[in-house]
Amino acid sequence: MFVNTTEARRKPWQRKTKKSSFQQLKIMNQAVTTKTNDSFDAIKGAHVLSGDAEKIQEYYDQWAADYDSDVSNEEYTGPKYIADLLAGSKTNNGLKTIDASNRHIQILDAGCGTGLVGIVLKQKGYHHVDGCDLSEGMVEKARSTGAYNVLESGIDLTKINEAYEDNQYDATVCCGVFTLGHVPPTALLELIRITKPGGWVVVSTRKSYYDSTNFQEVCDRYQQEGKVKLVNHVKDGPYIAEEGAHYWAFAVC
Ligand SMILES: C[S@@+](CC[C@H](N)C(=O)[O-])C[C@H]1O[C@@H](n2cnc3c(N)ncnc32)[C@H](O)[C@@H]1O
Repeated sequence: MFVNTTEARRKPWQRKTKKSSFQQLKIMNQAVTTKTNDSFDAIKGAHVLSGDAEKIQEYYDQWAADYDSDVSNEEYTGPKYIADLLAGSKTNNGLKTIDASNRHIQILDAGCGTGLVGIVLKQKGYHHVDGCDLSEGMVEKARSTGAYNVLESGIDLTKINEAYEDNQYDATVCCGVFTLGHVPPTALLELIRITKPGGWVVVSTRKSYYDSTNFQEVCDRYQQEGKVKLVNHVKDGPYIAEEGAHYWAFAVC
């Protein structure tokens, strides 16, 4: 089979052939930013995927090889921050919760990507960490970290996934997924479903995502409906060079 290696080496948004949608994304990016470096463009390209699962899968499959170096270049600290938040999650107001500092708890890293969160959790001593993502390319990278037990690709967090039972995990973490062009705020429901009562759902919301969606309204509604209780909230915490994120630790009711 003929493989055009130069073309294959190009990043998705740089390809001249076939991937016309990537070309369109790049043009859209140039319209919204004056900064032009590869890693920044790659992140911006992901922000205009409109929550379309097929496009997201394709984009991340192709980005997987360069993802870690690109986000590192943009000073992405979300994974470390969210892992710290999980490890420190506790209540002292009468709510019965699982001890998140216990390194034996069962954790799901939802939207695990290449495994950056799993790596930090492993360094902290957590050894029952599973991961899932839409993109097999990203999951393949996560597999090579050795930080996860079970990894699943093709999991769409905007739906109910048969691969996971109700109340399966002690904690579910989700970093970098509640971001522009990815999932709607209501994807929280699937994270809540698969987490045990008393367990933790810990998520990041990129600031511009929070500002442009009804995340707060959804969060308030789920609390009023008795699904979760927000126990820990960090406003504008460290995330990536361009902007911060809000972090949320919910106890599942
Ligand atoms: C910015 S990356 C974050 C990856 C990793 N959590 C991290 O912090 O490096 C976003 C990830 O969310 C995944 N994703 C986007 N939409 C998704 C969905 N509906 N269901 C599952 N994963 C999704 C993408 O495939 C991608 O791996």
